[in-house]
Amino acid sequence: MKSVKMLSVGVITLSVLAYSCGGGGSSISSESTTSSQPAPAASISLEEKYKDDPVFIAGSAKAKEAGCTACHMIERKIVGPSYADVAAKYDNTDENVAMLTATVINGNVGNWGEVPMPAHPHLAKEDVETIIKYVLLLKK
Ligand code: HEC
Repeated sequence: MKSVKMLSVGVITLSVLAYSCGGGGSSISSESTTSSQPAPAASISLEEKYKDDPVFIAGSAKAKEAGCTACHMIERKIVGPSYADVAAKYDNTDENVAMLTATVINGNVGNWGEVPMPAHPHLAKEDVETIIKYVLLLKK
């Protein structure tokens, strides 16, 4: 009888120890999971944000074909303003799409600085519209 009592006291002591150890261990492992989570949505690039949008897919392909990429990048000014800066300046309306399409076909200077954009008279109006809709989509 005496030895059975001793044994049950031992079991209780062990299970209390196991409980407190388990508690400490699980809180440490949950901390390390948090630190390896992906970056928050706010810091993704515009390309990442819109890459699955059909307007983005059609427009970025046409922009490459038409050679706009030589002077324009999505988020960085090179020869011309970044598309993100253009999208921030103009609302995405039918009037602005028509106006900017004409600007690209006829060329322009003075809206963004002293460097002119050459005229693109060889491009089809529909193709330029496709590109402008993509440019105006690129809002942060
Ligand atoms: C040789 C360089 C060059 C190429 C090629 C070029 N651009 Fe530009 N783009 C510029 C410059 C420079 C400006 C700024 C003009 C200004 O200050 O008015 C500009 C301005 C723009 C603007 C803003 C217009 C405004 O009035 O605010 C849009 C939209 C644009 N470009 C789209 C395009 C598209 C689409 C293409 C391809 C068909 C293209 N660009 C090709 C240099 C270029």
